[in-house]
Amino acid sequence: MSTLRNMITEDVAMWRKKNCITLMDISREQIGTLLHVAAELKIHDLKREVSLRWEYPRTLAMLFQKPSLRTRVSFEVSMAHLQGHAVYLNPEDVGLGIREAVSDVAGALSRWVDAITARVFSHSTLEELASNATIPVINALSDREHPIQAFADLLTLQEQCGMLGNDRTLAYLGDGNNVLHALMIACSRMGVNLRAACPEGYGPAEDYIRATQIICGISGATFHLTTDPVEAVEGAEALYTDVWTSMGQEDEKEHRLKVFTPYQVNSALLRHALPGAIVMHCLPAHRGEEITAHIMAQHQTVMLDQAENRLHTQKALLMLILGI
Ligand code: CP
Ligand code: NVA
Repeated sequence: MSTLRNMITEDVAMWRKKNCITLMDISREQIGTLLHVAAELKIHDLKREVSLRWEYPRTLAMLFQKPSLRTRVSFEVSMAHLQGHAVYLNPEDVGLGIREAVSDVAGALSRWVDAITARVFSHSTLEELASNATIPVINALSDREHPIQAFADLLTLQEQCGMLGNDRTLAYLGDGNNVLHALMIACSRMGVNLRAACPEGYGPAEDYIRATQIICGISGATFHLTTDPVEAVEGAEALYTDVWTSMGQEDEKEHRLKVFTPYQVNSALLRHALPGAIVMHCLPAHRGEEITAHIMAQHQTVMLDQAENRLHTQKALLMLILGI
């Protein structure tokens, strides 16, 4: 336990009071520390050992404009384990930007709690919260990025495939969305090669592509974007997919189902990967759409590891940002 305390104390300066809105602002060293702390916390947790706790209980406000299972529960449990407290605020009660200006919500919350996490439709809402809050703001998913999902994914990849680095190749199939954006930055920072196959017109945003290419130039990782799912999967040791219709895009669902059909993760596609390749999914999943029920059943353990690792990585994040 004292090793963990020392590790967090030494690395506090790197993370302390930092916003976690986009991985573009978070360094390889910061991610490395977070994964290290999370892996240690996981060992304590699995042994049901009391983890580090705050003497003075910290508090987290959780603003959600969209539904959630994993993000909400993993943050609430993290705060409970640390003997802090999480306050869940649903969209109807707060009316972020409707009942009350985002800047006023940020200002008031800053007077009560130690950090804010927010799941928002528009990434700019997070930026507005952060620029008006005097406490750290954590992105719990926006239309642009899902950084805390990527932390759990990196930990899972490390556990399943070994040390992160240029020997690791992950293939992403489907929508160039918030989850892919986070993976692009996270993988390139940590030296993991990423190949993404997205339909024409549904690729990742240009600024994420540019940032990923620059980061790859530093870390030595590679990033390859294609419209051909087989090309992306060929020889990969891990496949990753996410829903084709993200929250907020429900009106496009029928059209998306047609466009994305060739990108389904199924047995035929998986045959092109390395033997024993793992399949990852951030969940929730839509069986029969982005992934077959058969592949879900075969690879469910890894997906549940990803879900479990949300707890360990977010607990690490809270400790590093809020101190011990
Ligand atoms: N993966 C993820 O963020 O799940 P929730 O939408 O359930 O929080
Ligand atoms: N891309 C999905 C991720 C859900 C965790 C969405 O935004 O709905």
